[in-house]
Amino acid sequence: MNNELQTNPRFQAPPQRRDFLGIASMWSAVVALGVATLGALRLPMPSVFPESDSRAKLGPLEPFLATAVTVVPKHRIWIYADSDGLYAISAVCTHLGCIVSKSEDGGFFCPCHGSRFDAGGLVTAGPAPKPLTYLELTVSPDGQLVVDKQKETTAETRLSV
Ligand code: FES
Repeated sequence: MNNELQTNPRFQAPPQRRDFLGIASMWSAVVALGVATLGALRLPMPSVFPESDSRAKLGPLEPFLATAVTVVPKHRIWIYADSDGLYAISAVCTHLGCIVSKSEDGGFFCPCHGSRFDAGGLVTAGPAPKPLTYLELTVSPDGQLVVDKQKETTAETRLSV
């Protein structure tokens, strides 16, 4: 009787169906492994390139040269002009990123937690851990002032024009 069950085709699954399920599961595993490998290879590549958004054109040079201090709220910076050229100070507080304002003494103050900075951006009262950031200024080929918000520079650096 048992031998009859093994040899009788009525009691066995069709060989084609078994083959199809085996091949389908193998290809599913191959595709899943391929997708996972592609995802793992892509991890080191950033989806967003910070360089592309960090540079911003501010407009023609002349108005910045003619004004001692220009506020650029859109980019959260202050542009200064002195006898050596132009420089930019970030208005982003180095504590937790609030926007600083000018204070009566010529420095800056942060409304969030009370940090104070002198006119050069140095911390005079905490909790800000670092001075305000100086940002790189350049001139574009079409003569516009450009700030790079990812490139820090020193307090002594000037864009001489
Ligand atoms: S964010 Fe400026 S003091 Fe905290």
